Amino acid sequence: MTAVTMQSIKHLINEVDFAGESFISINSMTNDQLLALFELGRNLELQNRDHWELFPGSIATLLFFQPSTRTRMSFQTAMQRLGGQVIVEASPQTSSSIAKEESLNDMMRCVAQYANVVVLRHPNADEAREAAGCAGATPVINGGWGHWEHPTQALLDLYTLWRKFGHIDGLKVTVAAADMIEARTGHSMAQGLARLGADVSIASPREKRVPSEVIENIRTNYPDARVEEVFDFEKDSFNQFIEDKDLVYLPGCSAPAGASAEAFKKVMDDYFVKHETLDAARERGHMIYVTHTLPRRAGEMDLAIDDTPNQLAFESILHSVSIRMALLAAILGN
Ligand code: CP
Repeated sequence: MTAVTMQSIKHLINEVDFAGESFISINSMTNDQLLALFELGRNLELQNRDHWELFPGSIATLLFFQPSTRTRMSFQTAMQRLGGQVIVEASPQTSSSIAKEESLNDMMRCVAQYANVVVLRHPNADEAREAAGCAGATPVINGGWGHWEHPTQALLDLYTLWRKFGHIDGLKVTVAAADMIEARTGHSMAQGLARLGADVSIASPREKRVPSEVIENIRTNYPDARVEEVFDFEKDSFNQFIEDKDLVYLPGCSAPAGASAEAFKKVMDDYFVKHETLDAARERGHMIYVTHTLPRRAGEMDLAIDDTPNQLAFESILHSVSIRMALLAAILGN
């Protein structure tokens, strides 16, 4: 990598060619733009523990209608590292005029006039999409919308993979959850992986299969992409299935409360990656990386994996700052 200067960063921002755009879905960018963004992220890594006056005077406003640790704090960190400022509404239901029954659309119409970019997390994807349409010329980033998509989580996981392997095409990846209907990070990631040439399998119970829109988007727009659905594993068959994979991607999902909770735990157990499976593969000379998009609950993942070279969940956290810096920079432009 050549020396990183303000000038070289500005050149890479231009290469992404995304100034003033909203990032609503992983499909908001072309493959070339995603790869250019990864290059920008890599060049910004040197700055992700530092402060650069790239965007003095720019403000990112974060509207989070659902709890968040990583997405909210890493966007906040990313904007401040770029020399910009951040306004955060972490509990708008109680602290903003939403509490006085103001509509999300009206809130967005106002906030968009203060901000250079808005990051919105919301439990209802339709409401979020409609509100993003009220932001006028101010770009909006999807920070997780309902059960639909969480595209910046996919960005950081794709970027981590790209940094690890130097490419995404040809990698064998399983996206697995006990409920793929609600796994918004899995929806974004499966599409990003398939578009960039990975060999993708999506594993779930048949009755909780990924929404058809995800597969249709891939097959319609990328007819050569390799994506398959695989159903109804039990723990042993699932661990056999992943033996030749390069990555197992665990998007997590909301566990039901009450009477269904125990039954759901049994299904979660069917998609439990055993550290013994990874150890045996490592001994054969094959590394199966595992990442969980976090937060994770007890029983969702073998915590012994945390202490092995196979885990990527925490390795991706610092990368999340670099790639969110890159996204903000690409949107704010020169
Ligand atoms: N992965 C993720 O979106 O984490 P948070 O909910 O903590 O932002």
